[in-house]
Amino acid sequence: MRLDRLAVTDFRNLAQAELHPAPQLTVLCGANGQGKTNLLEAVWLLTGGKSFRGARDAELIRRGAAFAVLDAAFESGGRPQTARLTVGSRESRRPGRTVSLNGADRGRAASIAGTFTAVVFDPNHLSLIKGGPEGRRHFLDAALCQLYPGYLAASRRYLRVVAQKNALLKAYDITAGADLLLDAYNEAMVRYGTEVMQRRAAYLERLAPAAAANYRDISRGAETLELRYLPCCQPDAEHLAARLQGLRTAEQRAGFCLTGPHREDLEILIDGQPGKIYGSQGQQRSAVLSMKLAEAAVAGEVLGEHPVMLLDDVLSELDDARQTYLLTRIEDKQTFVTTCDSAAFARTNGKLVFVEGGRVRED
Ligand SMILES: Nc1ncnc2c1ncn2[C@@H]1O[C@H](COP(=O)(O)OP(=O)(O)O)[C@@H](O)[C@H]1O
Ligand SMILES: [Mg+2]
Repeated sequence: MRLDRLAVTDFRNLAQAELHPAPQLTVLCGANGQGKTNLLEAVWLLTGGKSFRGARDAELIRRGAAFAVLDAAFESGGRPQTARLTVGSRESRRPGRTVSLNGADRGRAASIAGTFTAVVFDPNHLSLIKGGPEGRRHFLDAALCQLYPGYLAASRRYLRVVAQKNALLKAYDITAGADLLLDAYNEAMVRYGTEVMQRRAAYLERLAPAAAANYRDISRGAETLELRYLPCCQPDAEHLAARLQGLRTAEQRAGFCLTGPHREDLEILIDGQPGKIYGSQGQQRSAVLSMKLAEAAVAGEVLGEHPVMLLDDVLSELDDARQTYLLTRIEDKQTFVTTCDSAAFARTNGKLVFVEGGRVRED
């Protein structure tokens, strides 16, 4: 996957900007609040996904304008393609996010999902290590949804059954036929839950070694990163069914589901210790970055094309050696890095692009 050109009109603070990224590394430099993240966000929107900042469409349009327009030329599936993405205000002729691909109108932006692929790292991703298990499950699930279209359906069905079962367990004594109903819910949990667990386990088998290798490189071999899937039981139908059966009485007493893939976690160990507790800020950042780069590599293997990598503010809190690694070692995969650190400019072999007051300057 390679972005060759992006022209931006009235997108956030970028009134008119044009970017010609390098095939490999492009470094977006500028002080705070100049439009670097906005530019990354514009690239990300070409994937058809929602804003990684969780912004609503109206926030994407430059204040006072009716439309934001992104015009992109990129290489995907071995051929050059073009996309034009428009964000219209609610009052405009064409509200919301719509897209045309290679000149043909395709309706909603989400319809081109999978055409242009990208993986984004932003500082909020540190919650992957610092936060609770929910964020880590979300990381796994979001990646799996991109790779296997059937995964989203299985995990949604599974979660629906969990909600139904929770409602039953809460009102168990006053529900007629509660025992039979519980059997039926447990069976459904096994059916969909097994698929979720097996996909997660298989994904971790690819992700973990790739993330470990990245971390080894970033830390110059000084430290290790281990990712371990912590399943609720051995990931197959028999074990999940036995586990649910074993906890049946306890669940009735508790009044909610006590086990299943919706309560699993992913363990992140730095030098053998839980990264959440012992990792320094820089180590945590390196670990998340290694995981994100691995996510992109696995997507590249499964989908046959490596996604574009968007790394926002990754350099802060990394020591010089780690920064230099990032600024020089990312090869043959198109990567965008933002930085407000002027010293980083001198150390990169990538293309420098300066972002200032919503303007883009390429030297
Ligand atoms: N819809 C909008 N219209 C105009 N300016 C906007 C809009 N949304 C955000 N901005 C401005 O963009 C700037 C932030 O840009 P950002 O890309 O986050 O900065 P940074 O270079 O630090 O990453 C802020 O000054 C903000 O006011
Ligand atoms: Mg920023």
